[in-house]
Amino acid sequence: MADGTQENGPQKEPTEQVEQLQPNHQGLHADAENTSEEDLNKPLVEAVSQDVAEEVGEFFEQAAEQNETNIDESNKPYIAFEHVYKSFGSFSVLEDVSFFVRPGETLCILGRSGVGKSVSLQMLMGFLKPDSGNIRVAGENICGFNEREMLEVRRKVTMVFQNGALFDSFSVGENVAFPLREKNELDEEQIRQIVKGLLEMVGVAGMDDLLPSDLSTGMKRSVAIARALASQPEAILYDEPTTMVDPLIAHLLGDLIERLKRQLHLTSIVVTHDMRFAKKLADRVLFLHEGKARFFGTLAELEHSDDPVLQEFMAMDELVLPQ
Ligand SMILES: Nc1ncnc2c1ncn2[C@@H]1O[C@H](COP(=O)(O)OP(=O)(O)OP(=O)(O)O)[C@@H](O)[C@H]1O
Ligand SMILES: [Mg+2]
Repeated sequence: MADGTQENGPQKEPTEQVEQLQPNHQGLHADAENTSEEDLNKPLVEAVSQDVAEEVGEFFEQAAEQNETNIDESNKPYIAFEHVYKSFGSFSVLEDVSFFVRPGETLCILGRSGVGKSVSLQMLMGFLKPDSGNIRVAGENICGFNEREMLEVRRKVTMVFQNGALFDSFSVGENVAFPLREKNELDEEQIRQIVKGLLEMVGVAGMDDLLPSDLSTGMKRSVAIARALASQPEAILYDEPTTMVDPLIAHLLGDLIERLKRQLHLTSIVVTHDMRFAKKLADRVLFLHEGKARFFGTLAELEHSDDPVLQEFMAMDELVLPQ
């Protein structure tokens, strides 16, 4: 169920919505350029209302325990491309691209529009197949996987799409509750509390009853992140989480991704045009350029690179983004 198709759902009076449609970021440090170490280490649950804190806290503890096991077991890549090629007809998008992400790390994928960033994420999710090369996800080579096997992988690794890809006929709350209901382990009151807490954490508190069509692009993205977290994944792939999001929400989402890494040991891939966002989050960076992995390395290595293409990209970014 992708974005765009409007199905029948409860319609709201426009006046009813107006007051509610302000993104909010209570409890999270959203106004500073750089969040302090201390704030990033504050338990996630401190960002949610008291009445749901216990339930949300337990939910996160479970997720953290599950993900810690991945890190303990080995330091082998959790996700990797090995010499991946991908064309559409005669149009070659990726040529011999390799990279890896270790458990609990964040990889940022950078590169200009059309370079194959979204295609790479779609291949990791098994929506597109490579022409050649190997793709590892959750430690397994997924290339020969059938749809049923991919569904198993997608329980562990979830994607936040550029457009949010929410279920249009479901309310915001129902969207976030969906993965919780699928698990069949929680009662309705627990689900309500977790949904409330997750929506607070992503800056869209109290929007449970709205439909996705009532939300701005940025808010849809926030709800998509809340839905992804509801499935207690081991890894989240974010496609342009900050595009069309106001700077405050962008900052909040950046902090959230960092907190999820530190506190839930989540493995992440973040596709972004935003160099500052990458600097804040990345353990490693992949820079795609003209079909190739022009750069794959640590953030420090990127900053010291004398590759003119990388330098130009970094310099342009400084110009485009207001300081
Ligand atoms: N299903 C498809 N069929 C044919 N061509 C495709 C398909 N998906 C993507 N492409 C092409 O592959 C290229 C890479 O697309 P992709 O969406 O990965 O770019 P991107 O790096 O994510 O760009 P942006 O920053 O604009 O989102 C583009 O030229 C696109 O037109
Ligand atoms: Mg894209």
